[in-house]
Amino acid sequence: MSFYFGVDYYPEHWPQERWETDAVLMEQLGIQVVRMGEFSWTKMEPKEGEFHFEWLDQAINTLAAHGIQTVLGTPTAAPPAWMVRQDPDILPVDSHGLRREFGGRHHDCQSNHHYRQHIRRLVTAMAARFGHHPHVVGWQVDNELGNSHGDFCYCPHCEAAFRRWLQQKYGSIEELNRAWGTAFWSQEYSDFHQIISPKVTPNGHNPSQMLDWKRFCSDLVADFMRFQVHILRQYCDPRQFITHNCMGFADKVSYFELGKDLDFLSHDQYPGGYFAQPPHQPNQRLAAELDFIRGCKGKNFWIMEQQAGITGWECMGRNPAPGQLGLWTAQSVAHGADTVVYFRWRSCLFGTEQYWHGILPHSGKPGRTYQELKEVIAALRPYMEETQGITTPAQVGIVYSYDQNYAMQIQPHNPKLTYLGQVMKYYTALYRANVPVDFLSDQGDFSKYKLLIAPLQYLTNPELEEKYRNYVAQGGHLVLTMRTGVKDDTNLCHPHTLPGGLSDVLGIEVPEYDCLWETSLPVQWDGELFSGEQWCDLLAPSTAKTLAVAAGEWYAGTPVITCNRFGQGQAWYVGTEPDEELMNKLMSELLRAADVSSLGEAPEGVELACRKGRERNYLFVLNHTETPQTVALGREWESREVSLPPYGFAVVGSAGEELE
Ligand code: GLA
Ligand code: ZN
Repeated sequence: MSFYFGVDYYPEHWPQERWETDAVLMEQLGIQVVRMGEFSWTKMEPKEGEFHFEWLDQAINTLAAHGIQTVLGTPTAAPPAWMVRQDPDILPVDSHGLRREFGGRHHDCQSNHHYRQHIRRLVTAMAARFGHHPHVVGWQVDNELGNSHGDFCYCPHCEAAFRRWLQQKYGSIEELNRAWGTAFWSQEYSDFHQIISPKVTPNGHNPSQMLDWKRFCSDLVADFMRFQVHILRQYCDPRQFITHNCMGFADKVSYFELGKDLDFLSHDQYPGGYFAQPPHQPNQRLAAELDFIRGCKGKNFWIMEQQAGITGWECMGRNPAPGQLGLWTAQSVAHGADTVVYFRWRSCLFGTEQYWHGILPHSGKPGRTYQELKEVIAALRPYMEETQGITTPAQVGIVYSYDQNYAMQIQPHNPKLTYLGQVMKYYTALYRANVPVDFLSDQGDFSKYKLLIAPLQYLTNPELEEKYRNYVAQGGHLVLTMRTGVKDDTNLCHPHTLPGGLSDVLGIEVPEYDCLWETSLPVQWDGELFSGEQWCDLLAPSTAKTLAVAAGEWYAGTPVITCNRFGQGQAWYVGTEPDEELMNKLMSELLRAADVSSLGEAPEGVELACRKGRERNYLFVLNHTETPQTVALGREWESREVSLPPYGFAVVGSAGEELE
């Protein structure tokens, strides 16, 4: 069975007499699936070993009578009070060594042995009860793993797990001392037991230790999820899927890793963001997060939480204008969502999220949002039927690496320089040019892409260099950027002239560099002046052709952007972060050289995206502006022009010929 639309439902927040009314209203809206249970541990197990699943069973059956199936969440993001009082070491410890208390959620240490035992007991009981339930179609493990865990967990259990992780990675303490460069500031260890989790120090941290800590934390979260996945796989009908709801570019845990153990990834999409930040998150950032989640498993995904009203806890965001919720839904579908589940069904009367609004208002009476989404659901459903399960290929790939991100977080060079910021600069130029993009990890298949952009490849090793070398040698078009090849995998500087092993592929060396802190650099290309930001690598070309040079500072005239022919392909080096105009010029050069096609031209604020269907392709035309827009389309589409109201969208089928 295929699902297209759902809602996140909390029957435990409402009197049972209301459930039937909710089910009827959901059915009339076009809802086929709900997610439930992901925060209701105390309702399921009010005392250790005493399970109460009757209410959940009744809720599932009430909905099923209206053709609505259930995805169950394991409620492990909110351990009950009785449990944390019994085993207080479940509570996480922050980097100051303080225990975080009960009273919110995510108050858990993910390596804690007692906590794992409680989870095993509950998840096993849930699986035994619902693992073959005819109306439970799948599972969501925990909820937004890594959410609120930025500064967790430094407790003794996690410390011991970190030591085991290090022991396994390095084998001997001598090897760890070498890999971490502990000769600096007398940090040598003579035994693994001397290593602690990197809590706050009076002054500074070892960057190699910090990088391993971030990797360890990611691995721990993945292990925590896998632990539950194994229990579910052991007891449940294999027809029940297992997924997890991710948070776009949140970086506590690698979604590439989570994806390996799941049937598909899910994502939570809140264009309104967390607080009153008018008008909402940038459109390209929303699109990028969707593309990223698709890329993490190379597969379409579910939106497990799609914004359904005003967002906010203590403070609130803007009220979505008429059309906007539908537009955001269409954007999710356009980038690969096979199912969209709205968060939440009805605004809650109590708790932290009283103002995180649902489809139904506090009163429970259907209003503007309900009517609007009813039309959206009816309009999108036929296209979702046609495209479900089919991934749409892209010609451009952006390499995304959690490790590079971590390393740049530890030493950003320029306080304004971020890995994600640079990734988004490249993505934004492609987005503006209406060119579809895939994200992939550096373990992914480069050969699928005409153009491959790998920002800030700061950490390199011979295998990675070899992969890039082969890609270019065999005809690929590769873009590498500033700070490529600076460090090894353990965050020690390479003892080579930059960029190291890729010098011949790029046809340059980087003998010097400059940090553009509080300043920007005039850059000249074809007689035009642009600007470089954050950083500047001063390039010495060997075989590369110079495209742009510094036009200021004592190094005026020095190349900063180059292009080199290598084997069958070409490799660009971009030694600075281009401003918008420079990026646009660079991108048009790259797209032309790699012969990448665009979906067409659209007015500012109108997004074009494509989904491949069984019979034909579908162009999604998304008007993110508050004014009406008319968009001319190319011959390959069955309409030559679409007119859209403010925040309107249209889906147009291909005229017959398949797009590449
Ligand atoms: C997240 C969570 C939900 C809910 C919403 C709104 O996405 O997954 O449980 O808390 O945010 O805050
Ligand atoms: Zn811990």
